[in-house]
Amino acid sequence: MSQNDSSKEEQETARLEKLIQTCKKQHVDFPTPYEYTPDNAKIQDKGVLITGGASGIGEAMARAFAAAGAYVTILDLNRPRGEQLVAEMTEKGHKMIFHATDITDFDQQLAAFRAAQSFSPSGQLSHVFANAGNIGSYTLYPVENIDSSATNGGEATKTLVKPSLPCVQVSLIGMYYTAYLALHFLTLGTKAKSGALDTGTPAEKDLLDRSLTLMGSVMSYKGYKGLSDYCMAKAGVRGMFKSLRNDIKESTGIRLNLLAPTYVETPIYPKGIDLSVYKFAPMEFLVRIAQQLVCDTTIHGRSIIITADGPKDMDDDIAGLDGAPVIKDFLLGHNMLNAGP
Ligand SMILES: NC(=O)c1ccc[n+]([C@@H]2O[C@H](COP(=O)([O-])OP(=O)(O)OC[C@H]3O[C@@H](n4cnc5c(N)ncnc54)[C@H](O)[C@@H]3O)[C@@H](O)[C@H]2O)c1
Repeated sequence: MSQNDSSKEEQETARLEKLIQTCKKQHVDFPTPYEYTPDNAKIQDKGVLITGGASGIGEAMARAFAAAGAYVTILDLNRPRGEQLVAEMTEKGHKMIFHATDITDFDQQLAAFRAAQSFSPSGQLSHVFANAGNIGSYTLYPVENIDSSATNGGEATKTLVKPSLPCVQVSLIGMYYTAYLALHFLTLGTKAKSGALDTGTPAEKDLLDRSLTLMGSVMSYKGYKGLSDYCMAKAGVRGMFKSLRNDIKESTGIRLNLLAPTYVETPIYPKGIDLSVYKFAPMEFLVRIAQQLVCDTTIHGRSIIITADGPKDMDDDIAGLDGAPVIKDFLLGHNMLNAGP
């Protein structure tokens, strides 16, 4: 090896080591959710948009943010539940609107973002939770979508039926639309003041703080037998997160994070399945993490696994081997049914 080559190799090693140290510095030690108290002053009067906010995790977050004084817009397919929730919260004096929206329809989401922007007292959205999702009903193998009643020249034949991918449509494409719209709406009104993000007083920085949180899953990291569409969608969301986090913070100031819950008891689980086999994380853990992601303006680019034991930084970066050690620990400690190697 020439002297030139070895000095190049040393430079590359030094560059990699610097990158690893930078990643390590971004690691967050999340407190036990029961010990975390959000600073409601940072939530008060902020415009918050939550997709899938009429049920489950989205509903719990929407309730918590509205109770803390935010102006919350929920988007959901489920009009009766959305309207009921808004009526209940309005009755209590909280600020919440519902926009009936199918997030797979871009124009419907655009209209909902505009409504959320108008609803916010500052005329600006501060925090978006891209949460809506469904479990899907399609698995790639074994191929079951076969119409065996079709005939060909009198002989019975098997015709493959085009698969529908409702989970990918909602949890991947719909979420992509949410992220796309969020990146536009969250920066409105902030670009002229972007210098204040670096040099402003803490109060000015808080006012300008913006965040987008994507709802992934532990299945963004693991395959799961019988859920090929869900795993594909959630792995795709993680891919979007990992790519975007490098792009947006410096140019837009938007903080981007990913939630990767394991199991949370919500209506997403099909009726009739045995829920006693799951080790559920309490809903309070999800709510606390959402509050922390809004209140702590330093958290950016983190993926957070949430188990029954609490939240943990996945260390989904080069220093943390893309989250593999954390997933290994989780698999050892929990009975993750149907998870493959
Ligand atoms: N519950 C869990 O164990 C778990 C674990 C990991 C990740 N997640 C994720 O958390 C998110 C919320 O799920 P949940 O468990 O609260 O389920 P949920 O069924 O209680 O809530 C999902 C909400 O999304 C809405 N929705 C579905 N399709 C929509 C569409 N096209 N347009 C608008 N709204 C739509 C539903 O109407 C529902 O209100 C999902 O992305 C889910 O994949 C859940």
